[in-house]
Amino acid sequence: MEADFLKYQAQTTPHPLAMEISHAKGSYIYDTNKKAYLDFVAGVSACPLGHNHPKVVNAIKEQLDKYMHVMVYGEYIQKPAVELTKLLAKHLPKSLEKTYLTNSGTEAIEGALKLAKRVTGRSEIIAANKAYHGNTMGAMSVMGYEERKQAFRPLLPNVKFIEFNNEAHLNQITSKTACIILETIQGGAGFIVPSNNYLQKVQKRCNEVDALLILDEIQPGIGRTGTLFGFENYNCIPDILVTGKGLGGGMPIGAFTASSKLMDLLQDNPKLGHITTFGGHPVIAASALATLQEITKSNLMKDALEKEQLLRKLLKHSLIKEIRGKGLMLALIMPSAEITNTLILKSQEEGLILFWLLFEPKAVRITPPLTISKEEITKGCEIILRILDTIQPH
Ligand SMILES: Cc1ncc(COP(=O)(O)O)c(C=O)c1O
Repeated sequence: MEADFLKYQAQTTPHPLAMEISHAKGSYIYDTNKKAYLDFVAGVSACPLGHNHPKVVNAIKEQLDKYMHVMVYGEYIQKPAVELTKLLAKHLPKSLEKTYLTNSGTEAIEGALKLAKRVTGRSEIIAANKAYHGNTMGAMSVMGYEERKQAFRPLLPNVKFIEFNNEAHLNQITSKTACIILETIQGGAGFIVPSNNYLQKVQKRCNEVDALLILDEIQPGIGRTGTLFGFENYNCIPDILVTGKGLGGGMPIGAFTASSKLMDLLQDNPKLGHITTFGGHPVIAASALATLQEITKSNLMKDALEKEQLLRKLLKHSLIKEIRGKGLMLALIMPSAEITNTLILKSQEEGLILFWLLFEPKAVRITPPLTISKEEITKGCEIILRILDTIQPH
């Protein structure tokens, strides 16, 4: 199987982890050698309820038995998508009422950028250094990491970059700006949280010049930071909210949400302002609805903050220089990229899944399912500390 994987399935790194999966349940993934791996990554923040949560699986099966794809986005009334968008609205501020469902996060970013242009009639977009918003052309245009995008230029014109958390740069948002797009917590950059009311100040500046604020919550959203969305922690409300990953409960999804006033502009001039075949797919929407219901009805969000405290208490070691992030979106900062690599690879051997961040080579990702138990957290931390004890810093 590994030979076929390398031969037929396109690879994006020369050294994929190449673990062959048998099945997954709760906080564990099992390989075809029957080895169990405790999952501290949750499919890169995409499985908030762990693997194969019974309520999610049932919702998918029930919907499968009724119907799958029947029509392109937005034409027919399909209960799972309607209920999902309604439940999102129930848990969002009034100004974030209408949601467009897409197939992936990057596609939701494309929709959000298009909407900002359509609303303002402006073309300038401001983004942040080291930002990651996805890998399609528009999303890549607002990625703040030149090395990974220069081969694909030309990208969108009129994109300017500022430094996240630097208030002095906010005067670059002007009456020429359609929107500023930011991750609520910068993910790929190393789980950088907004400080000193930064996002509130961004929103104020946007209001002064009638530019829109787009917040990308694809990673921090859906309960990971102790609230349903990260922005709830930072005294601001975006004009357009983008979500994805965890919303699908393990199925592929993205979404962008705005006021009806803004969103309705996609209906004309031109009509069909953003279209997709599969967006709002009933099986995916059923999975997302069951996930969102479970997260909003249970104590998982509140517990995420307690679990953060437990991780911070247990993960004390001379090689852990810092723990960044919030809730169950945490990154260990190691002394070097080599130590990060050693820890991640040895952990896999020891039955614990850790992973990298995109642009911060010293960071180790800890984004377990929100459903992880305190015992499982303790077990995973013991593995990390045991491995670190064997590593000599250079
Ligand atoms: C903050 C952020 N935005 C956008 C994306 C892109 O989402 P997708 O991979 O579903 O296209 C990601 C994925 O890692 C992300 O972390």
